[in-house]
Amino acid sequence: MLSAFLKKKKKDLFLYAMRLHDDQLEDISARFQAEMKKGLSAESNAAAAVKMLPTHVRSTPDGSERGQFLALDLGGSKFKVLQVKVREGMGIRKGGVEMEEKIYPIPKELLIGRGTELFDHVSESLKDFLQEKNINLEKTHPLAFTFSFPCEQPTLNQGLLLSWSKNFRLRGLQGKDVVQSLKGAIERTGGMNVDVLSMVNDTVATMMTCGFDDQRCEVGLIIGTGTNACYMEALRHVDLVEGDEGQMCVNTEWGGFGDDGALNEYITEFDRDVDAASNNPGKQIFEKMVSGMYLGELVRLVVLKMAKVGLLFDGFVSDALRTKGKITTANVAAMEEYKTGLKNTRDILTGLGLTPSQDDCIAVQHVSTIVSFRSSNLVAACLSAILTRIKKNRSLRTLTITVGVDGTVYKTHPQYPKRLHKVVRRLLPESHVRFVLSDSGSSKGAALVAAVAQRLASRRKQVDETLFPFQMSQEQLHLVKSRMRADLEAGLKNKNPSTIKMLPSFVYHTPDGTERGKYLALDLGGTNFRALLVNFKKGLHQNTRLYHKIYTVPMEIMQGTGEELFDHLAQCVSDFLDYMGMKNAHLPAGFTFSFPCEQTAIDTGTLLTWTKGFKATDCEGHDVVNMLREAIKRRNEFDLDIAAVVNDTVGTMMSCAYEDPECEVGLIAGTGTNVCYMEDVRNIEKRDADAQRMCINTEWGGLGDDGSLNDIITPYDAEVDQNSLHPGKQRFEKLTSGMYLGEIVRQVLLDLTRGGLLFRGHVTEALKTPGIFETKYLSQIESDRLALLQVRSILQQLGLDSNCDDSIIVKEVCGAVSRRAAQLVGAGIAAVVDKIRENRGLEHLNITVGVDGALYKLHPHFSRVLHDTAKVLAPLCNVSFLPSEEGSGKGAALITAVAKQKQQM
Ligand code: BG6
Ligand code: BG6
Ligand code: GLC
Ligand code: GLC
Repeated sequence: MLSAFLKKKKKDLFLYAMRLHDDQLEDISARFQAEMKKGLSAESNAAAAVKMLPTHVRSTPDGSERGQFLALDLGGSKFKVLQVKVREGMGIRKGGVEMEEKIYPIPKELLIGRGTELFDHVSESLKDFLQEKNINLEKTHPLAFTFSFPCEQPTLNQGLLLSWSKNFRLRGLQGKDVVQSLKGAIERTGGMNVDVLSMVNDTVATMMTCGFDDQRCEVGLIIGTGTNACYMEALRHVDLVEGDEGQMCVNTEWGGFGDDGALNEYITEFDRDVDAASNNPGKQIFEKMVSGMYLGELVRLVVLKMAKVGLLFDGFVSDALRTKGKITTANVAAMEEYKTGLKNTRDILTGLGLTPSQDDCIAVQHVSTIVSFRSSNLVAACLSAILTRIKKNRSLRTLTITVGVDGTVYKTHPQYPKRLHKVVRRLLPESHVRFVLSDSGSSKGAALVAAVAQRLASRRKQVDETLFPFQMSQEQLHLVKSRMRADLEAGLKNKNPSTIKMLPSFVYHTPDGTERGKYLALDLGGTNFRALLVNFKKGLHQNTRLYHKIYTVPMEIMQGTGEELFDHLAQCVSDFLDYMGMKNAHLPAGFTFSFPCEQTAIDTGTLLTWTKGFKATDCEGHDVVNMLREAIKRRNEFDLDIAAVVNDTVGTMMSCAYEDPECEVGLIAGTGTNVCYMEDVRNIEKRDADAQRMCINTEWGGLGDDGSLNDIITPYDAEVDQNSLHPGKQRFEKLTSGMYLGEIVRQVLLDLTRGGLLFRGHVTEALKTPGIFETKYLSQIESDRLALLQVRSILQQLGLDSNCDDSIIVKEVCGAVSRRAAQLVGAGIAAVVDKIRENRGLEHLNITVGVDGALYKLHPHFSRVLHDTAKVLAPLCNVSFLPSEEGSGKGAALITAVAKQKQQM
């Protein structure tokens, strides 16, 4: 009696280290949480034992997946080739998946041979499958690849093998892209056309398989030959992948937990022995305590030891019991069968050449239970760590989630699932965790991933095709430059009144610093109307004082009658003078009027045609200075001496030239686009002075009005032109300026949406609204500093409900449109500066371009692309760009100062 009691005590002592209490499980869970963090962080990832591999799978199934795929399932206990057909629709009833599969045995020697030989076997099996199922060998078949080993994935269809695990140990593949190896093998086999779309780990594929029927499934778990888990992590925590919005499935590779010693306290001598005799000593420590490949062996080693010390079989040890692999995980499962377990145990032991007593059978069954119980406890601890992390990520009090599970241990061990579920629920009392067994292996899920990949690839292709016409080749840009040049020349000779007008400005010099006095400046034609007071004091560059006020011009005024427009301006001026307390000052004023005007003197300007968003009646053909004077007269409240009317380009050039004497070009890249520059008077037909140079307002926005840009004009541009206030006019401006870029973007987005490539194909009212994309939004959306989430919120402000992929595409469209604009303006500038260089007979020209306009100043990339293009297209000019600091008003005031000085002379 005593000896039986002692024996039991001794046996228990043996197994003591394998029994894990809840506080120990909680400790293990906390350790695993720390390991996950380490693996996710960019700094510690390289040294982490738990690798936390990003998978590029960003969502669980949503029912929109469809297509027909071949699938390979390699790395579990069975290698399978499959054909999977996915119909659109969620779940078993609505949608559906049909599968045909064949298991191909892998000869043992192939598992430890050369990698290429294994892949040749894989691809030959694939070909055999195609032939057997009469699948057309001519057609290209998309393929989904489940590969159940740790791989670093730069993209969904690349996988660099980190290490082999389980019973695979092949030469020549570690560190290589297994997708490439597979493709190589398929090529070697020949005679089939296969496109490997995606590669996924079995955990990921299992999560997707189960996610097809249960949308809450966001964890995939394998307890088979090996063990591993994946889950949907918040992308902001996945350091190794750019982006911070949404989720990404992370393959934890939890089998490696403990490889850095984190589990040392829990490791027994039997675990050490199993590890030492394995294919990969020191690696996959957690896996070796848990998974099917090792459970039987653990039981054998415990039983062997107990027999050796006389606790079993009266101390007898058979050869079979000494032989590695003689107790399998299937044996473990059989020994724990509910009713037949004890009998099975006896049969198994007898089969090993032993003669067990009833007590021996009970004791061995007990060993088996302890070993498998420890396995499910360890899985429960790590799984609860994952679930706790998800719960924290989402700031939830209770988490309701489904775990998709596969693997022979889970599927065939009679007690395992129940025990696992129970412990998980005990460790996480506040969560509702459902476990779903993957009914059909992992390939269904792999095909769902491939379906999404296929859709994205086809969407990518269509988006690229749509944006292709916006890409300017160097050749095209050279052509634009030479057309610009030709039209500048023709305009000077008065030969092309329909395109570039080349209007004399009657400004003969840039400022020399002698300008003095107080002037009023009025600035109409950009985004807003501005009134300014400028005071030039002694000393160049320093003593300019400036006060200003901004007024909006309502659309009904821009497009009402001329009288209303000028009355509105007079009212704004009146308000400004009140504001400055200068109603009675009778100041000289300069008027920046940013539309094409035919001038015969500095203080007259006949509006040739409205451009941009203005279309007030009875103005074209009239002197705008007169109209303003009359409006002031009508008001009969104050007096103004309008001494100069200037285009905004001219005002900008003068403003900047005040700072930099090399500034002889003025550029506006804002609502509209235009350039002025100092032209040699000998080249100007419509001249009236003997001065050497005169500033010419090119009105280059008209380039292309004769059809010369038709080869680069896209259907979207044509649509924007047709819907504009002045169809057929200002074609260059319509490709390059703030007023139109947003509209071009909107047209492209409309087209992409109609094609089902954006916003899930919903053409919303917001998208149909002209003008929603103002330049400022374009600038914001394209900002590199802006996260995708912010892009999405801008789009939401505009009434466009986008997801992460939509936001990426919208940003790309904006980028294509604004880049083309900047390149075209760059080509134009190259034409202008080269002309100036040639005018002056110079080998090399140093010149500064004064610039203004919201597109130039606020867009994150426009100015850079413009500078780069100008540099490439005008290599003999060294062009500096100087943004105007106080707008064109200061320049207008300078011109007024000179005009007044002249009057006084
Ligand atoms: C299968 C999956 O059902 O389970 C495989 O299709 C997976 O992808 C396997 O690797 C895991 O279990 P086991 O026991 O075969 O290793
Ligand atoms: C302003 C100038 O700074 O820029 C205006 O003062 C000019 O004269 C304007 O018309 C151009 O930019 P936007 O973006 O307002 O059209
Ligand atoms: C091993 C592999 C892992 C796989 C698991 C289950 O742990 O490293 O990638 O998911 O086995 O098959
Ligand atoms: C339009 C006008 C032009 C102006 C430019 C920038 O092109 O026609 O005069 O300079 O816009 O505002």
